[in-house]
Parts: sequence; C-alpha cells; structure tokens
Amino acid sequence: MTTLTVRPLSSAIGAEISGVDLSQDVNDTVIGEIRQALLDHCVIFFREQEIDTEQHKRLAKRFGDIFIHPNFNTGDHDPEVVTIHRKPDDELIVGEDWHTDTTMMAEPPMGALLYALDVPEFGGDTLFANQYLAYESLSDGMKELLGGMRCIHTDRKVAGPDSRVAKFKRSTAVRLDDEWRETRNSHPVVRTHPETGRKCLFVNHSYSVAFEGMTEEESAPLLNWLMDWGHRPEITCRFRWEKGSLAFWDNRCVKHIAVHDIQHAERLMRRVQIAGEKVA
Ligand code: SIN
Repeated sequence: MTTLTVRPLSSAIGAEISGVDLSQDVNDTVIGEIRQALLDHCVIFFREQEIDTEQHKRLAKRFGDIFIHPNFNTGDHDPEVVTIHRKPDDELIVGEDWHTDTTMMAEPPMGALLYALDVPEFGGDTLFANQYLAYESLSDGMKELLGGMRCIHTDRKVAGPDSRVAKFKRSTAVRLDDEWRETRNSHPVVRTHPETGRKCLFVNHSYSVAFEGMTEEESAPLLNWLMDWGHRPEITCRFRWEKGSLAFWDNRCVKHIAVHDIQHAERLMRRVQIAGEKVA
C-alpha cells in the first residue's frame, strides 16, 4: 500500500511528496517509497517539515553513509553538515553555476538533502535539470562520439586560494588556505546510473574542465555546448522554497543551480550529502 502522495512539478523532473513526517524514524516501507520516487523523478521535495540536525542526519543515513565534503570541512563545525548561509552583503552564493555536486571526487556523492531554515519571502529558488533527458535528446552521432570519452573534473574553481570565493565575499566558507590541494579525477562523459541502468550526461560548469587526452582549449567548444545542453528549460524544474521545505536530489543524474537574485535578503539552509560510488 502506498502511503505517500507524489505530485510531479514539471513534465521533465521533480515531484512534491506529501504524507510523511520526516522528523520521525520513518519505517522501511516509506523509505522504499521515497527511494522509488527519487529514482522516478530525480529530485523530490517535502514541505512543512520540522527537522533538527540529528533528525536530518538520521534521514540521510537511511540512504547511505554521510559524505564529508573536503572543502567545506574547515574544522569549526560538524563535518557531516554544511550550513549554507547567504548574508545580506554577500557577493557570491553557494551553487551559483549549473553543477552536479562535488564531482572532483573519485566517488562523488549519490545525493543531498537540503533543508530550508530561513528563506526570503520570494527569490532564492533552486533549479534542477534532468541529465537522462540531456543525454537521450542528443543525436545518435553525438551519443556515439561521447560513448568512449572521459572528462577531467577539478575543484580549483570552487575552493583554494585561486578560486572566486577567495576574491569575493561569501559567508559560507570553504578551505582557501595554502595547504589546500586541488582534487582532480576523470569520469565518463556519459555515465550509467547504478540503480536505474539508464544513461545520463555527466559534465558540469563548476568542475568539468577538459576531455581526457585534450587541452582545455581544444575541449571548450564541445564541452561548453554539452554543459549548456544539459540545462535547457524543457528539462528543468524550479523549486520555490519555504521555511521547512526539504529537497532530496539524486546527484548521479541531476544538475542544479541556486538562483542568485535575493539581493539584500538572508537565506539559511542545512545540507547533508550521501556518499556515492565510482562513476561508470
Ligand atoms: C547547492 O548547490 O548545494 C546549494 C543549492 C541551494 O542553496 O539552493
């Protein structure tokens, strides 16, 4: 018997789920339904939830181990939690380019649970894009070309002393110290989702810099085209946050972007990521 109500948010991606109180230790049946909704819709949203940090982590652990983000792990807070705080005079925000989370890692996270603690009355939405559809809508010729290609992913644009965060004001800190070292790994340009078996495009603006075996300059025309192809409006949805909303995205087949439009307002979110596996 199904306990959840699932309402799709667009024809391409995203669904709002109701009928569950996430502050409770949810039973296995409901966890199974949430996982299925995630696989079906790529990103799912819950509203009017009241969850503290421990409940947030307990929920995440039902889907895998908690992922510790190496760059947000600045030593002054619980490493299993990232507090994303946008303050009024910030010049940058977390996630302001279209991206898949943390793909510089050999094993990028499988997903993330982002919870809204305090959001402005309007603005500060997040957009999500379906990377199965990004792949499936390519021509047969392009699919064949990309089939054997790999791409280098690095975190040098999002952390460390040469990143934009080191030059402009952003309240949510990442490591910028001299001991920080770039993390670099290559992944297939087209990955196969380990649970659904479907293929999806796996390149993104924050981390992907060059095709393996090519220079960045040589890669740029095709790589930039592919990255833009992966967030056309018809394969996206847009989520308007309220205090108590929670988004859970499947980082294996989704890109997302936080809209940087709230000017002098404040926005406070809590994020827990779930560990993933080697990309194949
Ligand atoms: C992120 O990229 O994980 C943050 C998204 C958001 O704050 O909307």
